[in-house]
Amino acid sequence: MRDSISDYDKYGGHYGGHRQGDPTIMKEMESVLGDARTILNVGAGAGSYEPLNRYVVAVEPSATMRRQRPSSLPPALVGTADQLPFDDESFDAAMAVLTIHHWPDLSKGLREVRRVTRGPVIIMTFDPNGTTEFWLKDYLPEMVEVEKARYPEIHLIKQAVGGECSDISIDVPLNCSDKFQVALYGRPEEFLREEVRNSQSAWKFLPDGVEEAFVEALEKDLESGAWDKKYGQFRNRPSIRCQLRLVVSTGVG
Ligand SMILES: C[S@@+](CC[C@H](N)C(=O)[O-])C[C@H]1O[C@@H](n2cnc3c(N)ncnc32)[C@H](O)[C@@H]1O
Repeated sequence: MRDSISDYDKYGGHYGGHRQGDPTIMKEMESVLGDARTILNVGAGAGSYEPLNRYVVAVEPSATMRRQRPSSLPPALVGTADQLPFDDESFDAAMAVLTIHHWPDLSKGLREVRRVTRGPVIIMTFDPNGTTEFWLKDYLPEMVEVEKARYPEIHLIKQAVGGECSDISIDVPLNCSDKFQVALYGRPEEFLREEVRNSQSAWKFLPDGVEEAFVEALEKDLESGAWDKKYGQFRNRPSIRCQLRLVVSTGVG
């Protein structure tokens, strides 16, 4: 399997530097967390979006990702979503941020997260059937296919996690500090940086040569002004509607 923990061990070395939790998105999460005091963060990585004012237990399988947790955050436990070392209903709330598409068994992982959580389970993900104005699709139709195949459909997530579920669409702000692909909609030059691309797992799924061809084409268009002529409006757009979603399960009760 290419999309694995070892990929994070191999390519995730710059993750913490480029994928910091964005305050606007964090606000949305905080409002769902409500008054939850104890939080489980599964697939916690370097700790993005972990609230500082609550008691957080982080679980993360990749050593490279765990090492990037800042000293201001508690260390993460070694573990995966499908086997959590906690009793039933141990936490007030749980979060799984941009991680479920890496899990080998989505249903098992989400059932497990639901089992150990009393209150809301928050899953941040991309809707593979959602629409976007993001220009990357014009350069890289292959990426659209890759992402569509990787992200579980929202109804399957809801079915797997159970409880009363809803989903919230999140607009991504310009200069979003969590540099997932669409977050760079107004900063095309960021795609020319290898370490930024390495902090985004999807590139490893493209056929050989496609990434290099994209970088070359984008660089040329930025130099000639062709990109700005066609997409320059994105540089100042305050936010973009895209496929980013928070799926929230409020508990089985
Ligand atoms: C895109 S990163 C997201 C990290 C963090 N949640 C964030 O938002 O910055 C995906 C994370 O999922 C972790 N992961 C992969 N397989 C997992 C599994 N089976 N259970 C839990 N986490 C997993 C990876 O090691 C990686 O740290």
